[in-house]
Amino acid sequence: MQSVTLTLDSDFTLSDVDPRLFGGFIEHLGRHIYTGIYEPGHPTADAEGFRQDVLELTHQLRMPIMRYPGGNFVSGYRWEDGVGPKESRPARLELAWGALEPNIFGTNEFMNWCKKAGTAPMLAVNLGTRGREAAQALVEYCNHPGGTFWSDQRKSHGWSAPHDVKVWCLGNEMDGPWQMGQKTAWEYGRIANEAAKLMKWTDPSIETVLCGSSGRSMPTFGRWEWESLHEAYDNTDYLSLHTYYGNAANDTPSYLAQPDNMTDFIRESAAVCDAVGAAKKSKKKINLSFDEWNVWYQTPDQVEPGKTGEKWSVARPQLEQIYNMEDALVVGGMLISLLNNADRVKIGCLAQVVNVIGPIMTEPADKGGRAWKQTIFHPFAAAAQWGQGTALRSHVKSPTYTSKSRDNADIVTVASVVQGDTLTVFAVNREPSGQPVELKGVLRGFAGVKSAEHSVLKHSDLKIANTADAPNAVAPQAAETIPVLAGETFTAVLPGYSWNVIRFSL
Ligand code: AHR
Repeated sequence: MQSVTLTLDSDFTLSDVDPRLFGGFIEHLGRHIYTGIYEPGHPTADAEGFRQDVLELTHQLRMPIMRYPGGNFVSGYRWEDGVGPKESRPARLELAWGALEPNIFGTNEFMNWCKKAGTAPMLAVNLGTRGREAAQALVEYCNHPGGTFWSDQRKSHGWSAPHDVKVWCLGNEMDGPWQMGQKTAWEYGRIANEAAKLMKWTDPSIETVLCGSSGRSMPTFGRWEWESLHEAYDNTDYLSLHTYYGNAANDTPSYLAQPDNMTDFIRESAAVCDAVGAAKKSKKKINLSFDEWNVWYQTPDQVEPGKTGEKWSVARPQLEQIYNMEDALVVGGMLISLLNNADRVKIGCLAQVVNVIGPIMTEPADKGGRAWKQTIFHPFAAAAQWGQGTALRSHVKSPTYTSKSRDNADIVTVASVVQGDTLTVFAVNREPSGQPVELKGVLRGFAGVKSAEHSVLKHSDLKIANTADAPNAVAPQAAETIPVLAGETFTAVLPGYSWNVIRFSL
């Protein structure tokens, strides 16, 4: 059996983990909202139409922040359409995804849902078809106490207390040709800076997120950040990053190595932020908001046109990726990458949450009404539960392998976090032939490690998925062999192709 060594020292800390690293993202897209989180006719729906079965699963994900309302959707959104009496809200053509948006669910419904889900709102403003005036008005509507046109509108709509939204995204993926109102870096930097200025003048306590490149493979990656940050540096708090991985080529070793590219993307983006700061002689540091990340490569609505609902219909299934075992390993690897970069990445949003590339799936009430956990639910829930605390520098000595996506990827990837009197080691075994690997740990400065628990996510079939009929086909289980503790060292066996959560009580 191959062996990997992990050395941890209680003094070698990386950073406190910002709890917002484990956020989510809800977009007006497909069945995310309608028949996902909101379905008044569903047997579990409460008086506001929120599905309680979905809220219960969302609670288990422990997401402290939730980005809304898009995504590509936001770049054509008139937020005023979604507030006020429901009977007077207009239906609109939704151009980003070719749907009909009834606007029955809007900003205030989202705020109420967030309270019930135990999460904080993170709103995006439309800098595609609209601009600084609409953005400023939305901040005033949400955060101003009262006595002005927009804050009094909120009150008249039934929400007397301000929503107090702290984090605001300045548009979405403005470099992408698919975006309504795509801009050059300079155009975007200018409009983002002016919008952010008015938004911060309205409420100085807010933080803003500038759109970085919509992916590392964009031809303007690097230059986009450099130019737009030059325009908007002083009014920006975070730079956004987006990444989706996939296994369209059905090459598992290469797929499992892709999360290492996320680490490169983070470091390169942070380097550009620091370079602009240096060029501007600024004392301010821009941190990162990885506000869209996930696995996304199968979208049945795109491969089976016509089978999943017509264009311009309300809430037809879109982007309903069914996640399998190996997708969960990649999501685990991405969580490890985020934790190992917690010194720069302060906000993370799994994209998305329900039905649309989501860890939670639902059936509408007229099709059975069930809700269940996809495979990727499990690594996310474990990281959100045990990954909040202080991230350590995990020193790993591992054999490596080379594949299409990476040269010299470690066969085991690891992150480690101390939370109170618990030390948790997260590890993905991606040894390319699917063999178990021995993890030998040295725990320096952790006097009196008492016991260890080892939970594993694995399956002999990497393509197996959870379904409404078999919702626990892939679920965490206790490891077959208990980790062996001896003084400062431990030994654990990581089964072939597995996600592992090893917890030590200190
Ligand atoms: O999350 C799905 C889409 O991916 C988002 O709307 C967009 O921002 C990204 O391209």
